[in-house]
Amino acid sequence: MPLVPNLAARPSFRIPIAAALIALLAPLAPAPAHAPMVVPDSFTNLKVLPKNITKPQLLGTMRAFALGLGVRCDFCHARADSTPGAAERAPAGAPGAPGAAARPGGPGGAPERLNFASDTKEEKRIARGMLRMVRGINADYLAKIAELKDSSRVEVRCVTCHHGVAMPRPLTDILAQDVTEKSAAAAVIHYRQLKTQYYGSAAYDFREFTLEELARQLQQGGKGDDALVILDLAAEEFPRSGVVPFLQGETLLQKGDRTGALARYRRALELQPQNEAARRRVTELQGGS
Ligand code: HEC
Ligand code: HEC
Repeated sequence: MPLVPNLAARPSFRIPIAAALIALLAPLAPAPAHAPMVVPDSFTNLKVLPKNITKPQLLGTMRAFALGLGVRCDFCHARADSTPGAAERAPAGAPGAPGAAARPGGPGGAPERLNFASDTKEEKRIARGMLRMVRGINADYLAKIAELKDSSRVEVRCVTCHHGVAMPRPLTDILAQDVTEKSAAAAVIHYRQLKTQYYGSAAYDFREFTLEELARQLQQGGKGDDALVILDLAAEEFPRSGVVPFLQGETLLQKGDRTGALARYRRALELQPQNEAARRRVTELQGGS
């Protein structure tokens, strides 16, 4: 505890820490504020939000969508100058609609011009459904659970499920799908890539249980070789875990490799002397060999 505050309190450390944090956050944070955004003052196609919503309220809601899903406005909103599906940027200085704010673009080109009222993009239509769902959860379900304390009500929001990613799937499921559709090696590469991109955010759970649970599922599904590949990754990521060598033992035993299994159970016991299951396995394998 004392180390970090002391460092942070010294001015020479403050700036590098702050700079490092900003550098870490930058690639993750959706940056609607960067591109000059032309947002109209009145809204013509609201079907769920109140029609009389103020512009600051609407923008606050939209920012919460973007942050909750880790995306930018154009994830849901179609470009003003595009036919459906066309995604390329307008060339710098492209003439906008008459009367629209024709702000000069930054070095990147023309200001971001989106047709916010358009329902062209499927993502926007899904988001509208999600908005209805969230409203329903809060108003029709949570509000009616009498036992919940009114003073400390927690509202469900986009971020409650999405945790900063557009497709809110648990990491174990994502990697399991990689194993099924590609290979265990592909899952390992994907894990490393997601960890580089998302570690420290709320998006995915990179603790050891994720890989252990996946290995357990694979082993129980008769995919011992795939389980071992995942457990190699887990051993590399969590070298002090006693669960990983135990699961390696279980998988090797299932494959008939008693000698290999015994070595892994012994290793599990070294790391986790209170692991009774590993102790039983060691006794069994030593006795009945
Ligand atoms: C996850 C999808 C999503 C993201 C991201 C998103 N929006 Fe929206 N936006 C919607 C939906 C859905 C509606 C329509 C709500 C309704 O029907 O009540 C909407 C409506 C709007 C409207 C009103 C359009 C009209 O005239 O009816 C504006 C303006 C708007 N968004 C601006 C933004 C801005 C600016 C951003 C980026 C900060 C943004 N939105 C990000 C989904 C999104
Ligand atoms: C109760 C959990 C939950 C909440 C709350 C929630 N979502 Fe979702 N959302 C999901 C799930 C699950 C999926 C994936 C559905 C599928 O593809 O089967 C999803 C998918 C989406 C997608 C499609 C993403 C893509 O890449 O195709 C959008 C857009 C979206 N949600 C927007 C929102 C918005 C905006 C909010 C807040 C108003 C919200 N969601 C709140 C669970 C939730």
